[in-house]
Amino acid sequence: MHSKDQICYEDYQQSADWLLSQTQHRPKVAIICGSGLGLLADALKCQDSFKYGDIPGFPQSTVHAIASSVQGHAGRLVFGELKGKTCVCMQGRFHMYEGHSLCKVTFPIRVFKLLGVETLIVTNAAGSLNDTYHCGDIMVIKDHINLPGLAGLNPLNGPNEEKFGPRFPPMSGVYDKHLRRMAFDICKSLGFAQFVQEGVYCMVGGPNFESIAEARLLHRLGVDAVGMSTAPEVLVAGHCGMRVFGLSLITNKVVKSYEDTESVNHESVLEVSKMRSETLQTLVTELVSRMDIN
Ligand code: 6GU
Repeated sequence: MHSKDQICYEDYQQSADWLLSQTQHRPKVAIICGSGLGLLADALKCQDSFKYGDIPGFPQSTVHAIASSVQGHAGRLVFGELKGKTCVCMQGRFHMYEGHSLCKVTFPIRVFKLLGVETLIVTNAAGSLNDTYHCGDIMVIKDHINLPGLAGLNPLNGPNEEKFGPRFPPMSGVYDKHLRRMAFDICKSLGFAQFVQEGVYCMVGGPNFESIAEARLLHRLGVDAVGMSTAPEVLVAGHCGMRVFGLSLITNKVVKSYEDTESVNHESVLEVSKMRSETLQTLVTELVSRMDIN
């Protein structure tokens, strides 16, 4: 990849062509494994995996991201079959707060598009602002508020790549209604319904967690869960016409009161994601298996 921050069509194509030459798999679904879903990639059958650093043109994980990852395998693409459906999983994603430009954060999405991927599943860990949510709840993302985006930090800034999509892409309806309904049906039949919610995710830049005044602001804006990822990837996927499904694992309640003595920390976030990882995996696996693809 160019050391300058401009990425062109050929850069995405170079990564995609290399991957297509290295694996027989032709995935229709890509899954970004956030906290709590890292092990999903390990469950794929007939795996081919590639460390990000070995894929020509691919962004590199930072040392910090590798050191703080939940499991040892972070920083690779895993191709394989999930219940007979061919998928590609990102085990470890790029965050804006690590210092990556949003073009780098979203680079894999356009590579997936060139591989033939039509559906993107995104997962993340998030703090809840909704008082009816509990730690360990799973929130199906209905919509998002992209705060960095509203402030002008947008991966689609710059010359538009017409080969991927239009200059002014709509974002209404980007989280596919049909997939959301399917997820709720699955949760009901698996007995998960009591801890599954549907709500609005808000992306903030991080890396700090919110101040109390910021948390109150987000609460008043109608945000149900807040995190530091996902919106850029969803924008780029929506731009190139992918179907998107998103899940937030609620790892903590955001502190909204000056009387509250507890504060969030990264360790408790990781602990809750471990606790629900199996449930999340089951839900995503079942969703993929019911998709009308392959
Ligand atoms: Cl409370 N805030 C943010 N920004 N991200 C989070 C979080 C909170 N909990 C998990 N991820």
